[in-house]
Amino acid sequence: MPGRFPSAWIDELYSRADIVQVVSAYVPLKKNGSRYWGLCPFHHEKTPSFSVNAEQNLYYCFGCKAGGNVIQFIQEMERLTFQEAAEYLARQLHMPVPEMREDPEYEKRQSQRERLLSANREAAQWYHQQLWKPENIRLLDYLHGRGLDDGTIRKFGLGAAPDLWDALTQHLLQQGYTLEELQAAGLAVVKEHSHFDMFRNRAIFPIIDAQGKVLGFGGRAMGDVQPKYLNTSDTPVFNKRKGVYAANLLKKQRNLNRIILVEGYMDVVALVQHGVNGVVATLGTALTNEQARLLKRYAPEVWVSYDGDSAGQHAIVRALDIFEQEAIDARVLFFPDNLDPDEFIRQRGLEAFQHLRPLRSAEYLLQRAREDLDLSDNEGRMEYAKRSAKILQRVKEPVELDSYLKMLTVQTGIERDVLLMQMGVQAPAQTVKRSPYQKPGRQYRPKDEQSSAEKMLVAVMISGFAPENSIQTDDFDTPQIRRIAEELLSGKTAATILSECESDQDRQEISSLFAVDTEITAENAAFLVEQCLSTIRLQRRQKQIDALRGSLDSMEPEEKKKALAELVSLSREITSIKKTMQ
Ligand code: UTP
Ligand code: MN
Repeated sequence: MPGRFPSAWIDELYSRADIVQVVSAYVPLKKNGSRYWGLCPFHHEKTPSFSVNAEQNLYYCFGCKAGGNVIQFIQEMERLTFQEAAEYLARQLHMPVPEMREDPEYEKRQSQRERLLSANREAAQWYHQQLWKPENIRLLDYLHGRGLDDGTIRKFGLGAAPDLWDALTQHLLQQGYTLEELQAAGLAVVKEHSHFDMFRNRAIFPIIDAQGKVLGFGGRAMGDVQPKYLNTSDTPVFNKRKGVYAANLLKKQRNLNRIILVEGYMDVVALVQHGVNGVVATLGTALTNEQARLLKRYAPEVWVSYDGDSAGQHAIVRALDIFEQEAIDARVLFFPDNLDPDEFIRQRGLEAFQHLRPLRSAEYLLQRAREDLDLSDNEGRMEYAKRSAKILQRVKEPVELDSYLKMLTVQTGIERDVLLMQMGVQAPAQTVKRSPYQKPGRQYRPKDEQSSAEKMLVAVMISGFAPENSIQTDDFDTPQIRRIAEELLSGKTAATILSECESDQDRQEISSLFAVDTEITAENAAFLVEQCLSTIRLQRRQKQIDALRGSLDSMEPEEKKKALAELVSLSREITSIKKTMQ
């Protein structure tokens, strides 16, 4: 079991590694400016948005926002732990690998994880064997009755938990597992004077991850027993918010053009049996951001295919929101007559399924928005126009927006310009102000100029071209950016900061900080720093002005006088800062 490498050795490894060489083994790269570019290995794309920063040993994808240092890249590609990836890289560089520092806590956790995973694997095999035994024929009949054939049952490793108190527990105890382990794995329930199997008289769906590890189980009750599905609760090896059902099959299907996301175990199994590939389900919870990011690795689009009932339709709206947050293209497959995907494909067949047209998310939301309205009535049309305006605010593609507006003018009789005004967009569309350090053509949000400037400062710090002492911690107001600036000022490298990130989300955000899409050179660094610092000074004063203006009305005359004087002097300062920026 691995322990930990000394940090000096890891630092040495970072300094010797050449990320361009490492990445090139997986992705062809081309130099453009100071960076190398290629097609992102973490999501599907046709034009390169994956960038490699050779000096800093960092990678970042402007499309899917995956980012990290050279060791983390190997971790992702080879599916290794940090320690394993470090060793893998060291061997490539012919760097001697030191003895690992023992970390008893770490080892204990790792060995417990291994024990639980192997208990799960054993349990899955046992459940599967039980399915073919005469005494469990009811469970096999149940699965057959739901239209599954033996090939599908084997493919998913479905099983039977017999109608007995502790048959699995007895079996695993004989194999040398302890009651504590079985309890920790969620396979047995242990009480003071007794114990019994967690799953009894249920059809078993093992939950297997992309590496083939059995993480947990879902058990379908026979008849009306509640809960209908019992799932392994969170254990040291299973977190239902992070994984999806049938991830193991996804890995084998390369070049998917879409993933179908369904709600239930049975939906996945039935669709796959009928010949639909790339299907996964969440594990009895609403979709999480982590799951969305996981899906992004396998296909460029996700088709949300939840049940046709109202709970399912509600869940679609939430899922679309998450996909939008994660910049994932999502569409919706809508099932008529309250059917769920399992019922639909069994009743109507593969061809009907393939004929369902996936709706773009705005199209779906618009359809929902008019469901309870009467469009033959003026009130109804007005309400529909208002709801639609909210939905269309989030449509980014002009072409798509145009087509919805056309449809809406026909449906509501309201003119296009009025609809645009309701959306808060003045017609014709505003031109966007661009800041001096932003490359033309890139999207830029003027509303957060200060944090953009702070981000740019961080990027200049990383480039190593910032004039000495030109940047201080106090130049930063945004807490996360300030923290990173502090670490950089204290001498930490970007790679080290990334390897210390505690969550994937932190790592993603920090990677994006390190990857500002502007060419930074020895020549323009000082100018960029000046511009950023001026922008920050300007924004700080602007915020003071806004705050003062906001409270003027509630001020006593004396106070107001002072505030007005303050306003005047702040405006003067702004004018003079602006002069320095020309
Ligand atoms: P559904 O209630 O839609 O079940 O729950 P289903 O998939 O149509 O089930 P069948 O067809 O009656 O067998 C969808 C999913 O929600 C989770 C499960 O993951 C299930 O597959 N669920 C549902 C639970 O976790 N517990 C429950 O009690 C019910
Ligand atoms: Mn169902």
